[in-house]
Amino acid sequence: KNIVILISGRGSNMQAIVDARIPGARIAAVVSNRPDAAGLAWATERGVETAVLDHKGFDSREAFDVALAQTIDRYAPDLVVLAGFMRILTPGFTAHYSGRLINIHPSLLPAFPGLHTHQRAINEGCLIAGCTVHLVTAELDHGPTLAQGVVRVLPGDTENTLAARVLTLEHVLYPRVVSWFADGRIRIAADGSANLEAVA
Ligand code: GRF
Repeated sequence: KNIVILISGRGSNMQAIVDARIPGARIAAVVSNRPDAAGLAWATERGVETAVLDHKGFDSREAFDVALAQTIDRYAPDLVVLAGFMRILTPGFTAHYSGRLINIHPSLLPAFPGLHTHQRAINEGCLIAGCTVHLVTAELDHGPTLAQGVVRVLPGDTENTLAARVLTLEHVLYPRVVSWFADGRIRIAADGSANLEAVA
Protein backbone atom coordinates (compact mmCIF):
# COMPACT_ATOMS: atom_id res chain seq x y z
CA LYS A 1 0.00 0.00 0.00
CA ASN A 2 1.21 3.52 -0.81
CA ILE A 3 1.22 5.87 2.15
CA VAL A 4 1.58 9.65 1.99
CA ILE A 5 2.27 11.42 5.30
CA LEU A 6 1.42 15.09 5.80
CA ILE A 7 3.38 17.13 8.35
CA SER A 8 3.82 20.75 9.38
CA GLY A 9 6.58 20.52 11.97
CA ARG A 10 8.93 18.18 13.79
CA GLY A 11 7.18 15.08 12.43
CA SER A 12 7.90 12.70 15.28
CA ASN A 13 4.81 10.64 14.44
CA MET A 14 5.94 10.50 10.82
CA GLN A 15 9.34 9.28 12.04
CA ALA A 16 7.70 6.59 14.16
CA ILE A 17 5.71 5.36 11.14
CA VAL A 18 8.76 5.35 8.85
CA ASP A 19 10.93 3.65 11.47
CA ALA A 20 8.29 0.99 12.12
CA ARG A 21 9.06 -0.47 8.64
CA ILE A 22 5.51 -1.73 8.38
CA PRO A 23 5.27 -4.73 6.06
CA GLY A 24 3.12 -3.89 3.05
CA ALA A 25 3.31 -0.14 3.70
CA ARG A 26 5.50 1.92 1.38
CA ILE A 27 6.03 5.51 2.51
CA ALA A 28 5.66 7.08 -0.93
CA ALA A 29 6.20 10.66 0.25
CA VAL A 30 6.19 13.10 3.13
CA VAL A 31 4.41 16.35 2.24
CA SER A 32 4.69 19.56 4.28
CA ASN A 33 2.89 22.88 4.05
CA ARG A 34 5.87 24.51 5.76
CA PRO A 35 9.22 24.67 3.96
CA ASP A 36 11.03 24.78 7.33
CA ALA A 37 9.36 21.72 8.87
CA ALA A 38 12.07 19.83 10.75
CA GLY A 39 10.61 16.52 9.69
CA LEU A 40 11.49 17.18 6.04
CA ALA A 41 15.23 17.00 6.63
CA TRP A 42 14.80 13.81 8.63
CA ALA A 43 12.76 12.20 5.84
CA THR A 44 15.29 13.23 3.19
CA GLU A 45 18.10 11.72 5.25
CA ARG A 46 16.17 8.47 5.35
CA GLY A 47 15.76 8.50 1.59
CA VAL A 48 12.02 9.21 1.77
CA GLU A 49 10.73 11.46 -1.00
CA THR A 50 9.48 14.85 0.19
CA ALA A 51 7.37 17.62 -1.28
CA VAL A 52 6.56 21.11 0.02
CA LEU A 53 3.43 23.06 -0.77
CA ASP A 54 3.48 26.37 1.08
CA HIS A 55 -0.07 27.40 1.95
CA LYS A 56 1.06 31.04 1.99
CA GLY A 57 1.19 30.99 -1.80
CA PHE A 58 -2.58 30.48 -2.08
CA ASP A 59 -5.47 32.92 -1.82
CA SER A 60 -7.97 30.53 -0.33
CA ARG A 61 -8.21 27.29 1.58
CA GLU A 62 -10.01 25.77 -1.40
CA ALA A 63 -7.21 26.66 -3.83
CA PHE A 64 -4.57 25.30 -1.44
CA ASP A 65 -6.47 22.07 -0.89
CA VAL A 66 -6.93 21.48 -4.63
CA ALA A 67 -3.18 21.91 -5.17
CA LEU A 68 -2.45 19.78 -2.10
CA ALA A 69 -4.59 16.93 -3.44
CA GLN A 70 -2.80 17.16 -6.80
CA THR A 71 0.56 16.92 -5.04
CA ILE A 72 -0.58 13.98 -2.93
CA ASP A 73 -2.22 12.14 -5.83
CA ARG A 74 1.07 12.07 -7.75
CA TYR A 75 1.99 9.31 -5.30
CA ALA A 76 -1.25 7.34 -5.82
CA PRO A 77 -1.87 6.93 -2.10
CA ASP A 78 -3.98 4.14 -0.63
CA LEU A 79 -3.78 5.98 2.69
CA VAL A 80 -3.07 9.60 3.61
CA VAL A 81 -1.78 10.09 7.15
CA LEU A 82 -2.04 13.45 8.92
CA ALA A 83 0.84 13.68 11.40
CA GLY A 84 0.85 17.10 13.00
CA PHE A 85 -0.50 18.70 9.83
CA MET A 86 -1.71 22.04 11.13
CA ARG A 87 -4.18 23.08 8.45
CA ILE A 88 -7.94 22.88 8.56
CA LEU A 89 -9.05 20.88 5.53
CA THR A 90 -11.96 21.76 3.25
CA PRO A 91 -14.95 19.42 2.79
CA GLY A 92 -13.88 18.88 -0.84
CA PHE A 93 -10.51 17.58 0.32
CA THR A 94 -11.88 15.31 3.04
CA ALA A 95 -14.50 13.93 0.61
CA HIS A 96 -11.80 13.19 -1.99
CA TYR A 97 -9.93 11.05 0.56
CA SER A 98 -12.99 9.61 2.27
CA GLY A 99 -12.11 6.37 4.03
CA ARG A 100 -8.37 6.71 3.36
CA LEU A 101 -7.46 9.79 5.39
CA ILE A 102 -6.52 9.42 9.06
CA ASN A 103 -5.41 11.76 11.84
CA ILE A 104 -3.94 11.44 15.31
CA HIS A 105 -5.22 13.85 17.91
CA PRO A 106 -3.66 14.27 21.36
CA SER A 107 -6.80 13.77 23.45
CA LEU A 108 -9.43 11.15 24.10
CA LEU A 109 -11.96 12.41 21.56
CA PRO A 110 -14.69 13.52 21.68
CA ALA A 111 -13.12 15.35 24.65
CA PHE A 112 -10.94 18.31 23.72
CA PRO A 113 -11.00 18.73 19.97
CA GLY A 114 -8.82 21.62 18.78
CA LEU A 115 -5.66 22.99 20.38
CA HIS A 116 -4.10 23.00 23.89
CA THR A 117 -5.58 19.60 24.67
CA HIS A 118 -3.19 18.73 27.51
CA GLN A 119 -3.63 21.98 29.41
CA ARG A 120 -7.38 21.70 29.04
CA ALA A 121 -7.33 18.11 30.38
CA ILE A 122 -5.29 19.27 33.39
CA ASN A 123 -7.56 22.28 33.97
CA GLU A 124 -10.61 20.01 33.93
CA GLY A 125 -9.06 17.72 36.52
CA CYS A 126 -9.05 14.72 34.20
CA LEU A 127 -7.42 11.63 35.73
CA ILE A 128 -6.78 10.06 32.34
CA ALA A 129 -5.69 11.52 29.02
CA GLY A 130 -4.49 10.05 25.76
CA CYS A 131 -4.65 10.10 22.01
CA THR A 132 -7.11 9.14 19.29
CA VAL A 133 -6.58 7.93 15.75
CA HIS A 134 -9.65 8.62 13.64
CA LEU A 135 -10.84 8.75 10.07
CA VAL A 136 -10.97 12.36 8.94
CA THR A 137 -14.32 13.83 7.98
CA ALA A 138 -15.28 17.40 7.19
CA GLU A 139 -15.74 18.24 10.87
CA LEU A 140 -12.47 19.07 12.67
CA ASP A 141 -11.24 16.32 15.03
CA HIS A 142 -14.31 14.20 14.43
CA GLY A 143 -14.85 11.08 12.36
CA PRO A 144 -14.97 7.37 13.22
CA THR A 145 -12.51 6.36 15.92
CA LEU A 146 -9.98 3.71 14.89
CA ALA A 147 -7.91 3.45 18.07
CA GLN A 148 -7.25 5.20 21.37
CA GLY A 149 -4.39 5.09 23.83
CA VAL A 150 -4.76 6.08 27.48
CA VAL A 151 -2.29 7.45 30.04
CA ARG A 152 -2.74 8.59 33.62
CA VAL A 153 -2.64 12.27 34.46
CA LEU A 154 -0.21 12.34 37.40
CA PRO A 155 -0.15 14.79 40.30
CA GLY A 156 2.12 17.68 39.38
CA ASP A 157 1.76 17.07 35.64
CA THR A 158 2.27 20.12 33.47
CA GLU A 159 1.17 20.55 29.89
CA ASN A 160 4.69 19.51 28.85
CA THR A 161 5.05 16.40 31.00
CA LEU A 162 1.59 15.19 30.02
CA ALA A 163 2.24 15.93 26.33
CA ALA A 164 5.47 13.92 26.46
CA ARG A 165 3.72 10.92 28.05
CA VAL A 166 0.94 11.02 25.45
CA LEU A 167 3.41 11.48 22.58
CA THR A 168 5.29 8.31 23.55
CA LEU A 169 2.00 6.47 23.22
CA GLU A 170 1.18 8.19 19.89
CA HIS A 171 4.39 6.74 18.49
CA VAL A 172 3.19 3.24 19.34
CA LEU A 173 -0.45 3.67 18.37
CA TYR A 174 -0.14 5.41 15.02
CA PRO A 175 2.18 2.88 13.30
CA ARG A 176 -0.11 0.14 14.59
CA VAL A 177 -3.16 1.67 12.90
CA VAL A 178 -1.18 2.15 9.67
CA SER A 179 -0.26 -1.54 9.82
CA TRP A 180 -3.98 -2.41 10.14
CA PHE A 181 -4.59 -0.51 6.91
CA ALA A 182 -1.64 -2.22 5.23
CA ASP A 183 -3.06 -5.59 6.25
CA GLY A 184 -6.53 -4.66 4.95
CA ARG A 185 -7.96 -5.13 8.43
CA ILE A 186 -9.94 -1.89 8.43
CA ARG A 187 -13.06 -1.93 6.31
CA ILE A 188 -14.91 1.28 5.53
CA ALA A 189 -18.65 0.92 4.97
CA ALA A 190 -20.55 2.91 2.35
CA ASP A 191 -21.85 5.24 5.08
CA GLY A 192 -18.27 6.05 6.07
CA SER A 193 -18.24 4.04 9.28
CA ALA A 194 -15.23 1.85 10.01
CA ASN A 195 -15.43 -1.83 10.79
CA LEU A 196 -12.70 -2.83 13.21
CA GLU A 197 -13.98 -6.27 14.11
CA ALA A 198 -11.06 -7.93 12.38
CA VAL A 199 -8.66 -6.03 14.62
CA ALA A 200 -10.01 -7.10 18.02
C1 GRF B 1 1.04 15.37 17.97
O1 GRF B 1 0.81 15.63 19.33
C2 GRF B 1 -0.24 14.97 17.29
O2 GRF B 1 -1.10 14.27 18.12
C3 GRF B 1 -0.84 16.30 16.94
O3 GRF B 1 0.23 17.13 16.61
C4 GRF B 1 1.41 16.65 17.23
C5 GRF B 1 2.39 16.40 16.13
O4 GRF B 1 3.65 16.07 16.59
N1 GRF B 1 -1.82 16.13 15.89
P1 GRF B 1 4.74 15.53 15.56
O5 GRF B 1 4.91 16.58 14.48
O6 GRF B 1 4.24 14.22 15.01
O7 GRF B 1 5.99 15.37 16.36
